[in-house]
Amino acid sequence: MLKLKKKTAALLADSVKECFGEGLLSEGEIFEMLEYPPDKSMGDIALPCFKLSKSLRKAPPMIASALAEAVKCEEFSEIKALGGYLNFKIDPTAFASRVVSDVLSAGEKYGSDGSGEGKTVVLDYSSPNVAKPFHIGHLGTTVIGHSLKLLHEFMGYKCIGINYLGDWGTQFGKLIVAYKKWGSRKTVEEGGVDELVKLYVRINNEIKREEEESKATSADGKGHSPLADEARAEFSKLEHNDEENMELWRWFVSVSFVEYESTYKLLGIDFDSYLGESFYTDKMPAQVEKLRNMGLLKIDDGASIVDLSEYNMPPCLILKRDGTTLYPTRDIAAAVYRKGEYKFDKAIYVTSSQQSLHFAQWFKVVELMGYDWFDQLVHVPYGTVSINGAKLATRTGNVILLRDLFDEAIKRVYDITKEKHPDEAECREISEKVGVGAVIFYYLYNNRIRDINFVMEEALSFDGNTGPYAQYTYARTCSILEKAGSQGKMTDAPLSEPEAELAKTLSVFPERIRSAVQDYEPSVVTRYIIELCTSFNRFYHDCKIASCEDEDLRSSRLALTAATGRVLKTALGLVCMKAPEKI
Ligand code: ARG
Repeated sequence: MLKLKKKTAALLADSVKECFGEGLLSEGEIFEMLEYPPDKSMGDIALPCFKLSKSLRKAPPMIASALAEAVKCEEFSEIKALGGYLNFKIDPTAFASRVVSDVLSAGEKYGSDGSGEGKTVVLDYSSPNVAKPFHIGHLGTTVIGHSLKLLHEFMGYKCIGINYLGDWGTQFGKLIVAYKKWGSRKTVEEGGVDELVKLYVRINNEIKREEEESKATSADGKGHSPLADEARAEFSKLEHNDEENMELWRWFVSVSFVEYESTYKLLGIDFDSYLGESFYTDKMPAQVEKLRNMGLLKIDDGASIVDLSEYNMPPCLILKRDGTTLYPTRDIAAAVYRKGEYKFDKAIYVTSSQQSLHFAQWFKVVELMGYDWFDQLVHVPYGTVSINGAKLATRTGNVILLRDLFDEAIKRVYDITKEKHPDEAECREISEKVGVGAVIFYYLYNNRIRDINFVMEEALSFDGNTGPYAQYTYARTCSILEKAGSQGKMTDAPLSEPEAELAKTLSVFPERIRSAVQDYEPSVVTRYIIELCTSFNRFYHDCKIASCEDEDLRSSRLALTAATGRVLKTALGLVCMKAPEKI
């Protein structure tokens, strides 16, 4: 559609010149004016001539009729002036033929405008915290992040996916204490990350209990926990490279990693770098120094901060009273490092919207530090996820792990499909593709900033705007082509409304991908997928395809089917979904 719109703008620019003279309106200006009329009976593209009347100094209806005479294009069956509008009606046969051949000749590249060629994007996403559960709250950063990576790659960007593992911090002090008290090598080796999470949850509960109990008897009414003191001491030992603690830490990280890897593998996700928070420990002092030298640091109650009141934000904390660094300090150091390492044109961070202020603050600090690339930093926030209404807490142990969510979906699909698929291995493979895809699609179908309530039954349903429906439609295109034994090609056979509609839907794919990238919004793709499936299924119900008696028409319809399959496969891939040929 974009192509046709561009072509129309070019033709109009010529006609304006011809009818009204040189230098009045550029092709680009005309392009911006073109609209898609809401009422299709008026036309498929329209030029509202009101906007031209000022520069051309003529009444809009006059302009419209003059141009109607002048413009010629075989892709339109009708170019008509109506009031102040110039309406273009697409010729279904010529248009569909052009679109389908565009799709089939570009193949897996159809939809890409190559706008990222020569540019580098760094994406920071997923980034779970070691020893804490990898839970449903991470679904957003993981799948939005990966989808944005795939979308950027598709547009030609060189992409670096970074998993900024939360592999450093006071939680390791707690975990070390808990492990020494209640754990053993054997239980952790056997139980993996679940065992670490159990230990972590247990010590948090104990600390809370100690604090509560001591409140009643303490002079100042504040609770105090000896266990928390121990944890701080162990973390401090870790920070000073105590060999025993370092060894435990490395082990905890690797145990957690096993769990992440299995989830990433299931989702088909991989990262180019796993440099986590611990990596930046020795890179922070230089940035703190720079802040101090530039006079940007202020001491507030013993802590070092950057005052951001001028920008209507609370201060950004750089050093705690005890001189230890904080989350923003690390992010600043990491950004500087990544700029040097990757020379990025854009650095994207995908996290929950609860961290929006954090990013706004440290982006501002980077700007104040004089780094001229501050405006290449992009925060992409998303809303919270709940399950059947229940909010997800992290530290209580009452959490839904990401892996469990996917496993549950796979199991449910398996139970439904196993009757249809006698072959066990095939059935498992399909269940995995459909189950995982269903969860991802359901999640990505929402505008990312909205909070969502996850309902498994809805996600897995085959009717409705779901992943299984989309994959099923893709499998339908495959089976039609397989049975027909031919991919078809576009002929001159006259096409009708459902075919033209389908061709139009195929033609808007490149524009949609563009806006998905521009707005960092994978839901543009999932919504498009549903639009395309709906168009295709309407065509499928209204038109005979492989069984069509007219050879030429059959060939065109098969080609439309092949083009639909091609675009669906690309689109599903861009939202981290597989496209199984059979379901
Ligand atoms: N590990 C953090 C969390 O789970 C997310 C890290 C996001 N990335 C960043 N550069 N701050 O909350």
